Amino acid sequence: DPSAYDASDAVHAAGGSFMHREIHEQPQSTERALRGRLDERFGTAHLGGLNMDPRETRAIRRVKILGCGSAYYVGQMGASLVEELARIPADAEAASEFRYRNPIIEPDTLYVAVSQSGETIDTLLAVQEIRRKGGRVIGLVNVVGSAIARECDGGIYLHAGPEVAVASTKALTNMFVGFALLALQLGRVRDLSIADGKRLIAGLNRLPGQIAEILEQEEELAAAAARLAEADSLFFIGRVRGFPVAREGAQKFKEISYRHAEAYQTSELKHGPLALIDEALPTVAVVPSDELTDRNVGALHEIAARRGPLVVVTHEDVDLGELDAVRIAVPRNERELDPILLTVPLQLLAYHAALHLGLDIDKPRNLAKSVTVE
Ligand code: AGP
Repeated sequence: DPSAYDASDAVHAAGGSFMHREIHEQPQSTERALRGRLDERFGTAHLGGLNMDPRETRAIRRVKILGCGSAYYVGQMGASLVEELARIPADAEAASEFRYRNPIIEPDTLYVAVSQSGETIDTLLAVQEIRRKGGRVIGLVNVVGSAIARECDGGIYLHAGPEVAVASTKALTNMFVGFALLALQLGRVRDLSIADGKRLIAGLNRLPGQIAEILEQEEELAAAAARLAEADSLFFIGRVRGFPVAREGAQKFKEISYRHAEAYQTSELKHGPLALIDEALPTVAVVPSDELTDRNVGALHEIAARRGPLVVVTHEDVDLGELDAVRIAVPRNERELDPILLTVPLQLLAYHAALHLGLDIDKPRNLAKSVTVE
């Protein structure tokens, strides 16, 4: 909706930023990504643009997701969705690496290129390499008619609307929604039950409202961010579904606050990084309520015992005991969809850290909105 962007110009002129506006637009933009794509009756998704009939869809034996930067991290979230819902082996790889390693292209693999701009050169050249070798590629792309969208065999448009800030927020959230729809469709031509399909649809329909609830916690997040911004270096930790969330959180933080932020699997802390923990190194921990909660909370106590400051992004029902930590609770959804709700607070942490430091939020130094040349 172009008129929304006139209003955004005014916000910018008044000292606001595109990033802030784009973060706050997510309840509406996720709704757009879902509109007309849910089949409540059969508990599945309608993605006509994939250009694949059910027989072809069933023949897929592997899913390989390619993207760069944050699109790659959301690709990792997408790979989990495909494995969990469709039980098809799936993984994500940085397109910038894939295209240089003479990749083996398999006929029964579905390749998925994910890109906001649709112009990222590494992702585009990966698509061309796959298609040259006879592979099938679909695109999850925001910009309609962009180079990647044109080169793919089919795809899903993200409908995030124009994204101006270099740090991607609403487009990434819609990438996640796009992956959930794809996984649902792949799952429902296989073994995902109609009941599970309906459960996921209900969860997807709850996302816009739940994102709005998270955005209401902006004040608490701003206070936590101001403290984090004082540190030279931070850890972002999570595991399994939470690890790509931590990677994306660290990426956003370093991109606009210029602070060193590193993501680790919580399970890997004791294999090395724990040596760095002290009162000067804060950790942002992603701790969903799931089968790993107890182990995750145990790791947080190890950090606290070494006086490491903690911000914990978690669910209401997670018991942190006596832990000395800033707690940010997000609403629960179906566990498969939790990653995107856990990501939203990390956008606001990065935004408010950069704001606190007085930096140019929309145009961070050294970075372009899309990397279109080698
Ligand atoms: C995200 O905040 C970054 N600016 C960056 O990592 C970005 O996601 C990456 O360059 C990929 O861009 P694309 O989605 O337009 O392909």
